[in-house]
Amino acid sequence: MSEISGWVNPLRDPQDRRLPRIAGPSGLVIFGVTGDLSRKKLMPAVYDLANRGLLPPGFSLIGFARRDWENEDFAQIVHDSVKEHSRTPFREEIWQQLADGMRFIPGEFDDDEAFRRLRETVDELDAARGTSGNFAFYLSVPPKFFPKVVQQLKKHGLSDAPEGSWRRAVIEKPFGHDLGSAQELNQVVHEVFAPDQVFRIDHYLGKETVQNILALRFANTMFEPIWNRSYVDHVQITMAEDIGIGGRAGYYDGIGSARDVIQNHLLQLLALTAMEEPGAFDAESLVAEKLKVLKAVKVPADLGRDTVRGQYAAGWQGGEKVVGYLQEDGIDPQSKTDTYAAVKLEVDNRRWAGVPFYLRTGKRLGRRVTEIAVVFQRAPHSPFDRTATEELSQNALVIRVQPDEGVTVRFGSKVPGTSMEIRDVTMDFAYGESFTESSPEAYERLILDVLLGDANLFPRTEEVEESWRILDPIEDHWDRHGRPEQYTAGTWGPKAADKMLARDGRSWRRP
Ligand code: BG6
Repeated sequence: MSEISGWVNPLRDPQDRRLPRIAGPSGLVIFGVTGDLSRKKLMPAVYDLANRGLLPPGFSLIGFARRDWENEDFAQIVHDSVKEHSRTPFREEIWQQLADGMRFIPGEFDDDEAFRRLRETVDELDAARGTSGNFAFYLSVPPKFFPKVVQQLKKHGLSDAPEGSWRRAVIEKPFGHDLGSAQELNQVVHEVFAPDQVFRIDHYLGKETVQNILALRFANTMFEPIWNRSYVDHVQITMAEDIGIGGRAGYYDGIGSARDVIQNHLLQLLALTAMEEPGAFDAESLVAEKLKVLKAVKVPADLGRDTVRGQYAAGWQGGEKVVGYLQEDGIDPQSKTDTYAAVKLEVDNRRWAGVPFYLRTGKRLGRRVTEIAVVFQRAPHSPFDRTATEELSQNALVIRVQPDEGVTVRFGSKVPGTSMEIRDVTMDFAYGESFTESSPEAYERLILDVLLGDANLFPRTEEVEESWRILDPIEDHWDRHGRPEQYTAGTWGPKAADKMLARDGRSWRRP
């Protein structure tokens, strides 16, 4: 039978992305294996991948940390974290297969003997479990340790892949605290690893809904024609959290909300929302378009007017009394660190000239929600009486990243009855209702991509540096001027943020 023209048989097409992508022979080495991220996200993600049949049978996991543990102690820690945090049900046979490939190397990062043992263990696993020399090194450690760890990997011959195999480095944020320090870090890492060996994690890019921004825009015809300055009034990108800083005082104080999430997650969301269509869905084409749009981002000329930072004060959250930031354990009572930040940016190109992109994030806000709202201009002319449309606001398309993942379109509709009255209604797409599959955790997707060498969802050096170019002047301005405004925990942030939008005749959405 002849093939229908243009149709490619998926069974014959190795590029078909609907087929489950299964990692080839490989292993993962985690530095900083005792940390929160490793216990809550990385170990459960590895188990979930194994449970979904996406890891090879001989997959191996090596933990490296300053603990006096044997292999069995490490396996027990992984076991506990999997039981507590994994997404899929616990299955003894999957666990056993995974546990057989677990090893632990105790040691400091400057301990040559420990790295020699790591090298031996990698060789041993290659022979015993067929990992074929393919290893990814996950640096889940504070950036001050990056130089030492990558140098040790080099010194002990671990960064160079044996013939026919691969070695990769996975790096967690923060990628520096400003442009200068990010450049230094990048230099240190690239002295040892080539650019295509380095995978920088921005876990927002691993979220289903974030990947769906591209599907929504570029796989459909109805959105793209109006996705520009002729129809869009402004864009609001919100990442609100109800939690405080928890036990992360050491990391958070001095860093603050803008460095923590605007520099990476929110600017990536902006880039995906505003970029042009890439020529192909591959890493090179995506990076090229994201980079172009980040380069076009204009920092506000009046930073006092168009940026706001806040700090949470004591209040109520979910029926519980919570302390203010300055009373949190381990926080300097004089700290000027922002736990809320809002900025108004413009994308200075033909598509977006004059359209403000308002970004905001905060801890201890009203509720946990991340969304991108594209708010459209009002109809240029209305044949109805003013009273008919009094209750009508602007059309909007809202991509709900989390929770209740989905997309909502808001538009005006006639209220049933004899008079003409038009009010806002919404049309809702909810992942939970349209699909039976539940979404994988971001870290499942990203770890699998690392093992497959698929770099689409990982920001490149240039994107990281460009994001710091945007944030640095804002942080400098805040350093030189005053303190963050206090806002009561459980509310929607400082008053100044509302005033910032009110000056433009707009208001923040209350999701
Ligand atoms: C991290 C930040 O990158 O993202 C945290 O460092 C924040 O401060 C977290 O809480 C939020 O992630 P998610 O996936 O829960 O939105």
